[in-house]
Amino acid sequence: MNPFLDRLEDYPFERLAALLAGIAPPAGYPPVMLSIGEPKHAPPEFVVKLLSDPGSLSRDLAGYPATRGSAELREAIAGWLTRRFRVRVDPQTQVLPVSGTREALFSFGQAALSGEPGALAVLPNPFYQIYEGAVLLRGARPYFVNCTAANGYRPDYEAVPESVWRRCELVYVCSPGNPTGTSLGLETFARLLDLAERHDFLIASDECYSEIYPDESVPPVGLLEAAAATGRERFERCVVFHSLSKRSSLPGLRSGFVAGDAGVLAAYYRYRTYEGCALPNHVQHASTAAWRDEDHVIANRAAYRRKLAAVTPILREVLALEQPEGGFYHWVRTPEDDRDFARALFAERNITVLPGSYLAREAHGSNPGSGHVRVAWVAPEDQCVAAARTLAEWLAGRRGP
Ligand SMILES: Cc1ncc(COP(=O)(O)O)c(C=O)c1O
Repeated sequence: MNPFLDRLEDYPFERLAALLAGIAPPAGYPPVMLSIGEPKHAPPEFVVKLLSDPGSLSRDLAGYPATRGSAELREAIAGWLTRRFRVRVDPQTQVLPVSGTREALFSFGQAALSGEPGALAVLPNPFYQIYEGAVLLRGARPYFVNCTAANGYRPDYEAVPESVWRRCELVYVCSPGNPTGTSLGLETFARLLDLAERHDFLIASDECYSEIYPDESVPPVGLLEAAAATGRERFERCVVFHSLSKRSSLPGLRSGFVAGDAGVLAAYYRYRTYEGCALPNHVQHASTAAWRDEDHVIANRAAYRRKLAAVTPILREVLALEQPEGGFYHWVRTPEDDRDFARALFAERNITVLPGSYLAREAHGSNPGSGHVRVAWVAPEDQCVAAARTLAEWLAGRRGP
């Protein structure tokens, strides 16, 4: 077997299951899962309808799908990118549909990294675990940029040594960030673009939370937008990752796309033809409709906004936390070790949250996830509010009068 497999850490949810194993929460508290970031809002009805139309389904199932995706889907995606980020993207050469961004973030690492000894990829810390898996399985090493309260949970790229940039082949960014909820601004993207040009590395920008944000008039900035704004109209060295999972509450559809530098995408397309991960035709049809429609996205975003507005003041009475700039997580500072906190909350109130230390690695003398838990507000609003109240009462009682 591939010896690099031994370098992979157990996935955070496996570590969480081990942490909570054998604990029997008290009867009387219904189980509440605030650990998994799986969207729970109803999927858009028009998408469900399209997927269940027997006529088109039997046509769609009768043929192999194309790795490049249909022209309609790529045009729908390019149109959305123009409306959302005010960028011009060629649907023939600068867009590829993918089976969700998880698959793409992983496979992009396999296609992009050289496999040369000493190759580095720069990752935020804490981070979405797939980035690290992709890097390690290609024989490269991650260089972590810690995101801590002291730097507003933003990666400080200025602190990365020149020697690291010289060996860097790929930078993964996540904006808005999971789990921190912070977004990179135009300035940070521009700085990264300068560095990428100088040291000739690629930027993979995971923007799957870009459509869930608190202020309707201030959508998060994207990498392609920053590239165009700084005169890089061909998006050199840039690839963005977008998904219907969060935007459209369609995590089970497994549909997203990558877009950016045509040269990079041509090579990545070649990789994908061998990997064999084309989107099924019915998924392509449903996805085309979903990228063309914005009404359901606005309603979905409003539902998250209401939920976060309801739970934030309840939690703020007992815990230190920021309102996320994007996404549906609170990245909460815990008054004790994050694993002890998660274990006690489960044991005493049947509420599951994810210890932050499982989402980060020890780097530069600390694990920047420790002392934090990630709380995912994906359940219906009434359940989220009830859970926030239970959590706040529990914590207040734990501290005593
Ligand atoms: C930061 C981040 N990127 C990518 C993904 C993958 O999403 P999908 O594969 O559903 O597009 C997730 C899923 O939770 C995520 O949190």
